Amino acid sequence: WWRPENLVDSIVRELRERIREGRVLVAVSGGVDSTVTAVLLRRAIGDRLLAVLVDHGFFREGEVEETLRMLRKAGVEPLLVDARREFMEAVRGVRDPEEKRRRIGETFARVFKRIVEENPDIRYLAQGTLYPDVIESGAAPGADRIKSHHNVGGLPSWLGLEVVEPLREFYKDEVRRLALALGLPRELAYRHPFPGPGLAVRVIGEVTEEKLEIARRASRIVEEELKKAGLYEKVWQAFAVVGDDRWVGVKGDRREEGHIVIVRVVESEDGMTADWTRLPYDVLDSISRRITSEVPGVTMVAYAVTTKPPATIEPQ
Ligand code: XMP
Repeated sequence: WWRPENLVDSIVRELRERIREGRVLVAVSGGVDSTVTAVLLRRAIGDRLLAVLVDHGFFREGEVEETLRMLRKAGVEPLLVDARREFMEAVRGVRDPEEKRRRIGETFARVFKRIVEENPDIRYLAQGTLYPDVIESGAAPGADRIKSHHNVGGLPSWLGLEVVEPLREFYKDEVRRLALALGLPRELAYRHPFPGPGLAVRVIGEVTEEKLEIARRASRIVEEELKKAGLYEKVWQAFAVVGDDRWVGVKGDRREEGHIVIVRVVESEDGMTADWTRLPYDVLDSISRRITSEVPGVTMVAYAVTTKPPATIEPQ
């Protein structure tokens, strides 16, 4: 009987057999995919694993600290690389979504290249690529390219590393079960997916500090309100998006032209198709009230009610 839980030992064994010498670099993000990848490798090859958390500055509130704490508990001690300024420079002035993704991918590659040069015994690059990622990036035969997911297809070959992807045959729900089988906390196992380029693709148009801060604070509110309503684990993703459109508002008796925040909450099996969640009106109401009162510069909250397809889940 095929159960992901039963596969832990054989995945670890295969990794150990394949990686006989040299070290493995893994970029961890705090998500379930990269965490499970890192923990499997830690079991297979011990301290020949070099886990790196690259802080690109596009994480959500408190995410970097929480991720470091969780990984240490799981026996993985990541190296924290602060590349916030480098990433912000890379996307400055860029409006086109694919160009934004391309520059973020390029910056990741540059950061990794430096790490590899400083650690010449690194021979492999491990990635938490899942089966749907393989299909969506057009890596599978016959599939159309929809978005360039930054973690698929491997980094440029000039990195000179062999790619290890222990999860490329699994769907998300199976990886969540692997996480629990590895003794990782339930909170991690049921964390929503978060795109590699982070909040940068939840900001429509140019990425500015102001818009990033709005996406960061509004997203936290969306997640908090869903948890409060007991709905967080029932949905696939829940987040807030901001662009350049404005809506005139009144604060006190003053006119204020503020940003429009779009809230997106979707249900999905594997991210390939999705339906918008029919949230109760009172939950939508709390989200809207909190965002307009707690996040400076926001005068309107809208709810995204389009399925995938035709829309994708993330705005970019
Ligand atoms: P879309 O927006 O294409 O997203 O409907 C499908 C699922 O993939 C996630 N996503 C990403 N994951 N790197 C990732 O690891 C990426 O670059 C990326 N872009 C989108 C998205 O959050 C959704 O769950």
